[in-house]
Amino acid sequence: MKENNCVHFVQQQLYCENVSLAKIAAECGTPVYIYSKAALEKNWSDLSATFKDQRYQIHYAVKACSNIAILHALARLGSGFDIVSGGELERVRIGKGDLGKTVFSGVGKQQWEIEAALQGGIACINIESESELLLIEKVASALNMVATVAIRINPNIDAQTHPYIATGLHHNKFGIDPQQALKLYQKIKHSPFLQACGIACHIGSQIMSPAPYAEALQQLVAMADQLCEDGLQITHINIGGGFGVCYKDETPPTVSDYVATVNDIIANRPYRLILEPGRFIIANAGLLVTQVIHLKQTHQRHFAVVDAAMNDLLRPALYEAWHDIVAVKKHKGEGRDYDIVGPVCESADVLGYQRRLTLHQGDLLAVLSAGAYGFSMSGNYNSRSKPAEVLVDGNNFHIIRPRESLQDMIESEWGLL
Ligand code: LLP
Repeated sequence: MKENNCVHFVQQQLYCENVSLAKIAAECGTPVYIYSKAALEKNWSDLSATFKDQRYQIHYAVKACSNIAILHALARLGSGFDIVSGGELERVRIGKGDLGKTVFSGVGKQQWEIEAALQGGIACINIESESELLLIEKVASALNMVATVAIRINPNIDAQTHPYIATGLHHNKFGIDPQQALKLYQKIKHSPFLQACGIACHIGSQIMSPAPYAEALQQLVAMADQLCEDGLQITHINIGGGFGVCYKDETPPTVSDYVATVNDIIANRPYRLILEPGRFIIANAGLLVTQVIHLKQTHQRHFAVVDAAMNDLLRPALYEAWHDIVAVKKHKGEGRDYDIVGPVCESADVLGYQRRLTLHQGDLLAVLSAGAYGFSMSGNYNSRSKPAEVLVDGNNFHIIRPRESLQDMIESEWGLL
């Protein structure tokens, strides 16, 4: 098991902070997502302590893990937020996040979402197309408000990551080409209902080097300089999220590496820098506990069929992502190589291939580093209800989302019969 600031063994039993995972599973059932408040706070403060200057603002990307208790914990630390929907906006509001420290990204904002954002006092809407610019202007004018906006640039930079999570290349749907963006800033300048406040980009996720950020930031600074000369008031540059973390044996850059990179570029410039980390804050602060339902042997393989599946944690099936899988209680013995599979009727429903474990039916397994894009990407495929979520805080734990019951899952349909 790689070093993990979320779990540790005490006498062969896995703990999150001071609470045994077996105890949580006994009380809440499985599968269950478990987050460590201490690890979450440590990740946040590692970032904010290094980017401590007033010139930086951290806006947690809500999509990584959008449980309201998690948002509330981050709001209390002073975090801002990055949202991509009216649903995320509502979560931030209920979690007592400050919409004045929240930016709204995403290519498909709808009228009701823009209205809610403006009425809620959103700090900045990141525009991703001309059509969206016109809609924001229309909504602002109807509300008789001025919308503060930035344009998300597509800088055509290869972030060297999985193609499904690269977002800064010309063939991606995200952002606006720099030349077109300059023209749209002119429209903003002449609109009584729009006020430019920044320029943005987000080039991808799980990025393993500061180099693509340097390249993107250089482009954005040059554009911001040009826009300011042209009379626009660009006060911030939003460099997006994407900071890579260790799932297996990767060595992502340290926060100091990032700071050194960006400081060199924005030194002597008047701009605030906005960061939108999601994974960095929550990936290694969370895990998924699942129980072995059956052990099964075929001619070629040993399978451990567990009660968590691709509908609970999609990352392995969708990106062939690696998550360490460890026994919650270690047994003695040689072990054997198991494919850890869920009950869903898809061959891709595998949480991990060929993991050496000593297993008995009924054992609990912890799928590590599952805090980011875990529960938030879960679904009901195969009519499986969504898992519970638990937040551990020192000696205690709190259920922050009860397991979805069968009734929760289907009642809105049976009422229609
Ligand atoms: N800002 C914007 C505009 C984004 O689209 C994203 C993520 C972030 C910030 C946060 O990126 P992070 O710091 O978490 O890398 N489901 C995938 C990741 C998709 C990321 C989507 N956008 C996964 O499980 O790897």
